[in-house]
Amino acid sequence: MKRAVDLVVRGGKVVSPHGIVAAGLAVQDGVIVAVAENEALPDARETIDAAGRYVIPGVVDPHVHFRSPGFEYKEDWASGTAAAALGGVTTVLEMPNSDPPTSTLEGLRVKQAVAARDAHVDYGLYGMLGQGNLGDLPDLARHGVIGLKCFMGNNPIGHCDDGALLEGFEIAAELGLRVAVHAENATIIERRSARLRDAGRRDPLAHLESRPSVCAVDAVGRVIAFAEAAGSRVHITHESCQDTLPLIRSGKARGVEVTAETCPHYLILTAEDMKARGPILRVNPPIREAGHADGLWAGLVDGTIDMLATDHAPHTAAEKMADNIWESWSGFGGLETALPVMLTEVHRGRITLPQYVTWACLAPARAWGLYPRKGVLQVGADADIVILDLDHEDTIRGERFRSKSKLTPFEGMSIRGRPLWTIVRGRVVVRDGALEGRPGWGRMVTRDAR
Ligand code: DOR
Ligand code: ZN
Repeated sequence: MKRAVDLVVRGGKVVSPHGIVAAGLAVQDGVIVAVAENEALPDARETIDAAGRYVIPGVVDPHVHFRSPGFEYKEDWASGTAAAALGGVTTVLEMPNSDPPTSTLEGLRVKQAVAARDAHVDYGLYGMLGQGNLGDLPDLARHGVIGLKCFMGNNPIGHCDDGALLEGFEIAAELGLRVAVHAENATIIERRSARLRDAGRRDPLAHLESRPSVCAVDAVGRVIAFAEAAGSRVHITHESCQDTLPLIRSGKARGVEVTAETCPHYLILTAEDMKARGPILRVNPPIREAGHADGLWAGLVDGTIDMLATDHAPHTAAEKMADNIWESWSGFGGLETALPVMLTEVHRGRITLPQYVTWACLAPARAWGLYPRKGVLQVGADADIVILDLDHEDTIRGERFRSKSKLTPFEGMSIRGRPLWTIVRGRVVVRDGALEGRPGWGRMVTRDAR
């Protein structure tokens, strides 16, 4: 008789970028030790019956804001990572715009302590790249940041002008860090918003008008030009605008190491929804006019856009729901809706499960140096496993979220499909739809030295 392992998941249909195979998984010490026909699996101390269900690698979300330290009233690491686990996300990469920001070694240590205490799932931490902290970047790299994040102006904490951006990219190239950039032209936005405000505009669509496509086209162009000059790896966050895609495509064709992400809200919603639903949809960059989403879907399918992210950016109802659009905060949660929303698109025939796994699991793991530990179900990988209930029909209701923020732009949407079990390094964190993990199981991940 074979030696018993810790855990076996049997009877499922295992999804990879290449296809779907009927197979079982065996797990020992948090690592996958066999992907095999069910009859060939060893005995186990715990067996999960996944008969008839699809089994995917845990989702790697490369863009979340957990607000702690500093803004725990919006979200904290326990609530944010619980929301992640319930959304089938087993690794989050968390943004540095907290207070203190993750812009110095001290700031990183504060966040590491909070995350180590509270996290239900694994996490990587971005360091801030701002024009005030270029000298701190080597320390941040040495202490394991997964990458850097930079805002091109228009953010109170840690933005870069062009000079600092290029220099930051040069330093990042030496340190081997990829830089995620919020690519919008801040001075255009400042002037347009002032003009619209002066004209008495307070309606939701004024937000979109203050950030026209050219803001994204210009900023993405500069990021790629600077990355090419500096020889650095860069990442365009939350791509909202189809007009930037030719720039990304031609950058990639020239060998620039540029990756890009988009989010479910840019793929599913349009400015018409913002007009109807108001400030809940306010986000930066903005949800654009009809037509952009089709371009973004096409960009995912042809590989111009590499991956999906949520940009989980929770705020309170009081902060979001202002009559005057300029007083509403930008951003909303997304961790508990992304997978059901995308599975609904699988049912609609727009995408396949292997495509979803490519964009949500494999590509972010690869870009951020976590592959093949994360993002795949194969021998030697961490046992981050999600079992789907693909036929579950439901309506999105924010009041049911585990996140502190109960607001979602997808409120009332009919969905089909949800994550049912979430396993992080061999431990069941969500069992049959219910959170059972405890804070502190999540571990910090660092990029593989390359
Ligand atoms: O809408 C946004 N919210 N965009 C950002 O870039 C930041 C984020 C936040 O932190 O709230
Ligand atoms: Zn963000």
